Amino acid sequence: MLVTTPPELNRRPGFQVPYSDLAAQAAAIKDELMTAFETVLDSGRYILGPQVAAFEREFAFCCNVGFAVGVGSGTCALHLALRGLGVRAGDEVITAPNSFAASAAAIALVGARPVFADIGPDLNIDPEALEMAITPRTRGIIPIHFTGRPARMPEILEIAERYNLFVLEDAAQAVGAQLHGRPVGSWGRAACFSMHPLKNLHAFGDGGIVTTRDSVLVQQLTRARNHGLRTRDDCQFWSYNSRLDEVQAALLRVQLRHLDQWTEERRRLAFRYNEHLARHVEVPTEGVGEYCVYQTYMIQADRRDALQRCLTDRGIEALVHYPTPLHLQPAAGTLGYNAHSFPQTLRAADRILSLPLYPGMTDAQQDQVIESIERFYRRGD
Ligand SMILES: Cc1ncc(COP(=O)(O)O)c(C=O)c1O
Repeated sequence: MLVTTPPELNRRPGFQVPYSDLAAQAAAIKDELMTAFETVLDSGRYILGPQVAAFEREFAFCCNVGFAVGVGSGTCALHLALRGLGVRAGDEVITAPNSFAASAAAIALVGARPVFADIGPDLNIDPEALEMAITPRTRGIIPIHFTGRPARMPEILEIAERYNLFVLEDAAQAVGAQLHGRPVGSWGRAACFSMHPLKNLHAFGDGGIVTTRDSVLVQQLTRARNHGLRTRDDCQFWSYNSRLDEVQAALLRVQLRHLDQWTEERRRLAFRYNEHLARHVEVPTEGVGEYCVYQTYMIQADRRDALQRCLTDRGIEALVHYPTPLHLQPAAGTLGYNAHSFPQTLRAADRILSLPLYPGMTDAQQDQVIESIERFYRRGD
């Protein structure tokens, strides 16, 4: 017999409005998830079976590309894709400094040097700064579609072509986003997605996927995620085990069916926040042709730390993504950057705040956040 925990008991204690509510989201489609889980359970096939193959086909279709390869996490997706693209020691790869550690770690893990370029007002890599960071050792660019907003891909692709560089999209935060009607995941030589539980399309654990139109890269990735094996007994190169498993793939297939509806819900909530908060803080905007998916609803606020404390006191969970940019992390200590390297990134790091926003969030919960922010700035708490 299944023992179920009511969603409200899974909430982090102390927050009336949590940052996200994964248990409630799962509860809304629990029957479908349980059926998918039982299908895998009954099949006796738990690794690299029909569910992974079907999820890869469906995901590739959503991204309008020929291929997708499921892997163990978004980090592995980036690491294996960089390996597949032939990046090695001595190479440089340019990315933005306002990301999660994995965006830079993947570059370092193939022995290359992460090089950062400052961001623009959209919080994505600034193409002009990116071009300035190119050296004879640069092999490629990893634009990050930060918070679910597409990076400036036409300009980035133009630069990449001029300097003969690859573009690998870090689309970990942006599943479902589009630019000029074209999905993220279809712009670069390849793109990497994370299925971490806080992503818009998530596993119940870890997962990741690489999309590409490049059939040679697909073959390389398919082997790289599975010990470098061509067949069970034929190891072409040393690699590790980073397979998406059948249970996660089956559960992801269920979620994929709901993704468009969840994205629309996120967008509705984002626009509702914008409407009420634009008077008090800098709210996220959408440029021409952008379809943003608001994995993170990120404002930029004066007196950010005081605002976050005030929200916490009122039972609202707001987070900072990320307080320390990558170039100032201890891990980046040998790269030669300092606090003056990227002024736009630094300014943003002091002002950004991610507000609760998730499918299933009620207008009443959102009103609580809005009213608290309005009161904070009206009263100057
Ligand atoms: C921009 C970005 N890249 C890469 C990753 C790594 O993904 P994962 O946690 O699945 O390894 C994340 C996850 O948080 C991310 O936000």
